[in-house]
Amino acid sequence: MGVITTPSFDRRASASLFSRLRTARGQADPFPIYEELLSRGDVSLAPWGGTLVTSFALCDQVLRSRDWLEPDKRWRERQGSGTRWNASSSREMSNTLAALNPPDHTRVRRAAGTFDRAAVERIGQTVTRATDQLLDSLAERLREGEADFVSLVGDELPVATIGDWLGIPSADWPRLRQLTHDQVFTQELLPSASQLAGSDAATAELRAYFMALVSDRRAHPGEDPVSRWIETWDALEPDRDAADEAVYFLVLFVLLAALETTSTLLTTMTLLLVESPERWDMVADHPDLVPAFIEETLRYDPPTHVISRIAGEDCVLGGLEIRKDEMVHLMVGAAHRDPAKHVDPHRFDPLRKPAHLAFSGGIHYCLGAPLARLEAQILLRGLIRRLPRLTLVRRPTMAPRVAFRRLLNLDVAVA
Ligand code: HEM
Repeated sequence: MGVITTPSFDRRASASLFSRLRTARGQADPFPIYEELLSRGDVSLAPWGGTLVTSFALCDQVLRSRDWLEPDKRWRERQGSGTRWNASSSREMSNTLAALNPPDHTRVRRAAGTFDRAAVERIGQTVTRATDQLLDSLAERLREGEADFVSLVGDELPVATIGDWLGIPSADWPRLRQLTHDQVFTQELLPSASQLAGSDAATAELRAYFMALVSDRRAHPGEDPVSRWIETWDALEPDRDAADEAVYFLVLFVLLAALETTSTLLTTMTLLLVESPERWDMVADHPDLVPAFIEETLRYDPPTHVISRIAGEDCVLGGLEIRKDEMVHLMVGAAHRDPAKHVDPHRFDPLRKPAHLAFSGGIHYCLGAPLARLEAQILLRGLIRRLPRLTLVRRPTMAPRVAFRRLLNLDVAVA
């Protein structure tokens, strides 16, 4: 394939698309904008430098290839002290699993372990109990009129699940959830200075909280994952302070990775369910469609719309020359609507063959995917089994973000 040296899609054109993407309207429905991006080719130039990748095949290829790297600590340092990459929150994130490259990544990922079937079954009991309680409160509120699904259920179930698993006191859950909302901006595509400052402050508070948690577990070990990680790291790392720090980065990242993403999956899934009576009836009449409904939600509107990587070497991607160290943004939300991958991509169809990159791919494939799926399945089964058909009262408002989707409200009522 020839190399494009003067891309037909210039940075000015993509700047105009991105300014639309950053409006409330664009965030409520980014898909027409993604369609324009897709129509311009598999790759295009980002307004701020770097490259946008929109085709499913190329996003998949980049995620699976060892030639593409995470923006790690050394890369962030090279960007210079005045840049967002050297904000204190970004430097802190550079020590967490998803910002490591091999061989560091291999070592830390191995130490993190996985959710095996037995662990998922154990956590499933917590999720079932929490879901029952949350649906009780939703049902009670619905008897009086409309109810906000986000505050009653969508934001609560992930923190109850991960909080219980990590052994975090429930009194601390609301604060941790708020800090997570503030922290995410350092991982956003284009954070403003004030969003970055909020993220820096949240990160500092999270560090203090989780370092204290780790030292408490060292003093009083239990059956929880934090105590297990301390044991694992003590065997890997002779320096106790370094071991504690490694465990802290893992706990921090697990919390950040687990909360908002899962809330967004649960809420988007419920939005797709309540906005269409046919969909509600279809799943209620065929509960065996629950897993497929969730996979299609993850394709149709995934919680994470953008995943970024750095070129390990000079290369050509989609006909475009990319230099070593340059960043590519995998526009996963757009790639999921790529007509070359999915027929009639804008149609929500749980019966289609599932294929999505919502949990990434390759060596960074999401460690928590079984847990997120478990929560979504238990909740969806509970909704259709326990409640009469619900309807959407008004369109939800989206948080002002491009990469990490978040519904601020989801107002529902009995149909
Ligand atoms: C619907 C919910 C979730 C979504 C959409 C999601 C999405 C993702 C994505 C896209 C990545 C990869 C980022 C990259 O490639 O740079 C990732 C990594 C990760 N996720 Fe999730 N996640 C979800 C839930 C969870 C949960 C519940 C946990 C923990 C219990 C979790 C833990 C992790 C961890 C530890 C990684 C880092 C893996 C690595 O870099 O090796 N995630 N997730």
